[in-house]
Amino acid sequence: MVAILVLNGPNLNTLGKREPGVYGTLTLDMINERIYARGEALGATVECFQSNHEGALIDCIQQHAEQVDGIIINPGAFTHYSYAIRDALAAAKLPIIEVHLSNVYAREAFRHHSVIAPICLGQIAGLGWRGYLLALEALVADLQEDK
Ligand code: DQA
Repeated sequence: MVAILVLNGPNLNTLGKREPGVYGTLTLDMINERIYARGEALGATVECFQSNHEGALIDCIQQHAEQVDGIIINPGAFTHYSYAIRDALAAAKLPIIEVHLSNVYAREAFRHHSVIAPICLGQIAGLGWRGYLLALEALVADLQEDK
């Protein structure tokens, strides 16, 4: 069975309340429920984790690196400048998909650059909460194909 870690970075714990016109009206718990359900349907084990703290995300990546087969991450604003999270993800040597709820390329210039994307299999941006499910489907399919 394929195991996937789904990570969310800073401020994503406030989804539902936070700029709903940009990020949608679903809370992170509601999105995670849908992720767990899709994981079950795909025959994958999923674990979801959110933190507002860079170090906590890095600890989580390090602790799971040898236990999971792939990572889906919405690093929030860390996307744009956290070399530390990028290094932790690169060291995990796992396929990674970066997800953004909003279309970062249609927003402020500082959101157009990701320091994480170059070490990822791919990136999904602008499709709202469905982006996580699409990432899960793509990652599970990719991992099963490789076996
Ligand atoms: C985000 C986009 C980032 O620029 C922003 O800092 C976030 C959320 C997204 O999901 O669209 O916190 O990652």
